[in-house]
Amino acid sequence: ADPDPLQDLCVADLNASISVNGFPCKPLHEVKSNDFFYDGLSKEGNTTNVFGSKVSIGDVLAFPGLNTLGVSWNRVDFAAGTGVNPPHLHPRASETLVVLKGKLLVGFITTTHVLYSKVLKAGEMFVFPRGLVHFQLNVGKGKAFFLAAFNSQNPGVVILPTTLFVTTPSIPNEVLSKAFQIDAKVISDIRSKLGS
Ligand code: GLV
Ligand code: MN
Repeated sequence: ADPDPLQDLCVADLNASISVNGFPCKPLHEVKSNDFFYDGLSKEGNTTNVFGSKVSIGDVLAFPGLNTLGVSWNRVDFAAGTGVNPPHLHPRASETLVVLKGKLLVGFITTTHVLYSKVLKAGEMFVFPRGLVHFQLNVGKGKAFFLAAFNSQNPGVVILPTTLFVTTPSIPNEVLSKAFQIDAKVISDIRSKLGS
């Protein structure tokens, strides 16, 4: 989904003082093999949190060699039991995932409220169309993890529970009570459990 590159490579200079769509290129004479290497997805993420999951991100900010190339990866780990990657969407990319360990229920919802979902085991893939809400739930006995590939160097993520309940400043209670048909007590309960 990203624009096409206009040169072979353009390792991001994340600290450049000018701002462009993406990042300016670091000077070619400073570019090293290690600029095209990233090991941030090699380790299991720490899933000790309310969701029981951890997304390790390999976008252009973590891996500057991806700049202008239109691709990136994430790794998502799930705690044994009920680890969930909560409903979220990526504004700038479709996502394909391949399960490497465990058993996961994955699904996405269309703009006409149809859920497409399936239980996947190691080696199996699924695709979430760009911009649609999706989730994954560990339904196996042990831990699980997958790798996900995106057709953007910077897919972005809108996580629905935190986007709605953990903002600065807060979305007015009147909005959330009417939208979800719940009272202020339920709202503050959700907020405190999600850590705000
Ligand atoms: C999983 O859906 C992810 O966005 O990493
Ligand atoms: Mn996703």
